Amino acid sequence: MAVRTLQLAEMKARGERIVAVTAYDHAMARLVAEAGIRVVLVGDSLGMVMLGYKTTVRVSLDEVLHHTRAVVRGAAEALVVADLPFLTYRVSAEDALRNAARLMQEGGAQAVKLEGGAEVAPTLRRLVDAGIPVMGHLGLTPQSVHALGGFKVQGRTLEQARRLLADAEALEEAGAFAVVLEAVPAELADMVSRRLTIPTIGIGAGAGCDGQIQVLHDVLGLTPRHPRHAKRYAELGDAIVTALKAYAAEVGAGTFPTPEHTWALEPDVLAALEQERED
Ligand code: KIV
Repeated sequence: MAVRTLQLAEMKARGERIVAVTAYDHAMARLVAEAGIRVVLVGDSLGMVMLGYKTTVRVSLDEVLHHTRAVVRGAAEALVVADLPFLTYRVSAEDALRNAARLMQEGGAQAVKLEGGAEVAPTLRRLVDAGIPVMGHLGLTPQSVHALGGFKVQGRTLEQARRLLADAEALEEAGAFAVVLEAVPAELADMVSRRLTIPTIGIGAGAGCDGQIQVLHDVLGLTPRHPRHAKRYAELGDAIVTALKAYAAEVGAGTFPTPEHTWALEPDVLAALEQERED
């Protein structure tokens, strides 16, 4: 059954945990859907996972659009949330509206996500007023990696914790339908989750959040290294290398392809061709 933004609040009210994961292409989105996961984020982490960038700062709106289209085709029943990349929502609210509209109209996303606290709340409100569901993102906000001085846990000090609580309330007040809490101490994430009526979706924020999100490639073991907050549920990277080595070995040895992987000519065609050559 399709999940939409309003249902996430109902899930929180029922105490039902929300499961979310990132996806960036059609094949993986199809598998995510088959696994029954109904909230899919086309995160700008695609820049690091799929495109080999060092941070998400280089990711463009067109890149997110391209991947969003593919994911929507693979997971039609899911709530597909597309990330607004670096600075695509901070120059002006008009700019943010135009960019978010592209992710929904051209990409097929049903919601967008943006990073930041009280300072982005007025823009978030403009998007929500225009009918665009918005997910917030607090704590370690990777688009600010250079300002934060690296991919570091956030909200540990009293001052940071107070600010994060105030930011979360500002996002809820502005109309966000959910907030991602990334790399935040578990006690603080738990407090935010209890104070908000909208769901919190944690990544490295402990079990007290209303839901969890992980980067798909971390969960599947497709990344060479994974952050402390990720759990690998499979080692597909190893499985892929083993499969490709077997393929290369069989091609090298001439044992692949076999007749079962090819097609035969219709009867008499070969003899006719050979006859023509002799004539
Ligand atoms: O870009 C992304 O994948 C994200 C998640 C880590 C929440 O923002």
